[in-house]
Amino acid sequence: MILAQRTDTHVVRPGSTYFGVDTTAYLRDAIAALHHLDPTPDAVVITGDLVNLGHADEYERFADIVSAIRMPYFVVPGNHDDRDRLRAALPKATYGGSTHERVRFAIDDFDVRLIGLDANAPPWPGAALDDASLSWLEETLASRPGIPTILCVHQPPFRTGLHYLDVFGFGGLGRLRRTLARYPNVGRVISGHIHCVRAGYVGPARALSAPSTAPQVVPELFERHAFALRRERPGFDVHVWDPQRGFGTTTYRRDSNGSYAPVAGPGSFAENTRA
Ligand SMILES: [Fe+2]
Ligand SMILES: [Fe+2]
Repeated sequence: MILAQRTDTHVVRPGSTYFGVDTTAYLRDAIAALHHLDPTPDAVVITGDLVNLGHADEYERFADIVSAIRMPYFVVPGNHDDRDRLRAALPKATYGGSTHERVRFAIDDFDVRLIGLDANAPPWPGAALDDASLSWLEETLASRPGIPTILCVHQPPFRTGLHYLDVFGFGGLGRLRRTLARYPNVGRVISGHIHCVRAGYVGPARALSAPSTAPQVVPELFERHAFALRRERPGFDVHVWDPQRGFGTTTYRRDSNGSYAPVAGPGSFAENTRA
């Protein structure tokens, strides 16, 4: 099973930019790269901040661009998203729940089960899993124990070291840790939001944040509690599972020609011996 992850695409209105970048061009590049991967991924998950301001016309643009994806794709919202507009634009990619309810899904079409959770909660851009989401997760995991599983969420549910985001915390994390401790089949918790690569654990599960297809954060500035973005090479993660080696993750970065190549990732097979 190969799952390609895209995150923080921050699609803007025509004529607008995100920190001076035409994010739609970057997303188109990232989708083209998806189709050049060999072997081809089985599915794609896009882990939030799909558009920049939650406008309906941004979602129209986003939906038009991702319609080029040739494999099944699923999305979870980020703090820049509007749940209702997201659902309206991508009804097949968001699944359960009704208006104003959190987006969530469990996909059982592959060797690896894909579970998506919507952790967006005020104060923005904070994160919290409410009791309903956590109860649903527990019931969902209990229904198919032992199946290799990837949990997809926008905000990293671990301390990233990026202080200005870590201060918002992640509500419900204690219960999430306890739940995942009972289900070691959850081999990956994948996220975005911080626009850079970080790794941690949630209970026994390896937790990773993937690079954005839009501008990247400059981590060292956060040591001084500063907030700044600058153009850095966009990227994405590819998660692989096989029965012998378990889960592995590779990060790809865009080069100056617009094509993508793998770089050392934080979640290689070798580092995954804990699982
Ligand atoms: Fe973002
Ligand atoms: Fe975000």
